[in-house]
Amino acid sequence: MKIFLDTADIGEIRRASDAGLIDGITTNPSLIAKVAGNRDPKEIYLEICEVVDGPVSLEVVAIERVKMVEEGRKLAEIHQNAVVKVPLTEDGLKACRDLVSSGIPVNVTLCFSISQALLAAKAGATYVSPFVGRIDDISGEGMQLIHQIRQVYDSYNYSTEILAASIRHPLHVAESMTLGADCCTIPPKVLWQLAKHPLTDRGLEAFLKDWNTLGTQI
Ligand code: E4P
Repeated sequence: MKIFLDTADIGEIRRASDAGLIDGITTNPSLIAKVAGNRDPKEIYLEICEVVDGPVSLEVVAIERVKMVEEGRKLAEIHQNAVVKVPLTEDGLKACRDLVSSGIPVNVTLCFSISQALLAAKAGATYVSPFVGRIDDISGEGMQLIHQIRQVYDSYNYSTEILAASIRHPLHVAESMTLGADCCTIPPKVLWQLAKHPLTDRGLEAFLKDWNTLGTQI
């Protein structure tokens, strides 16, 4: 499963990228607003694309097809690794088809149902982003949607990749893997939580304690 980092924070992106742990990045307008200050978002997008050698999702903010396509083309020009993110609306699906037809990869975002995921695949989306955490937030079962999409895409041979999004904790990541998501986009905090295990800490402490009885170094 590919791991994407769900952030526009360049410090966090460098930290994960230096460790060779991430395959790409997803951003959204809220994540950009958190870090932008006075900077032009396009500068931030370019900086991210230059750090990460993999797909970087950049989201349109227009809501009408023609404007979405215009914005999408501009975003795609920022860098060869740009993936244009469009919302799962009627206009977004049409813009997806337009952009994909001209060779621009598209991530259809804000997916909350299996029928929406079907339409994203029919529109030729490169990725579909089901938001599991936001479904859990309203007492739904977010991971159930990943399972359903996997079944449907496999049954009908759709090549759209399932990008599990709105990840809140390590269990979401573990379940994304076992349910067959192609990619999972993870907030930095959760990425580092994945590395933690109390038995690792306890085991390391014991190893070092025993080694130190030798009074020697490697
Ligand atoms: C996906 O691409 C989105 O950026 C993201 O996963 C949204 O997550 P949130 O529900 O934590 O805002």
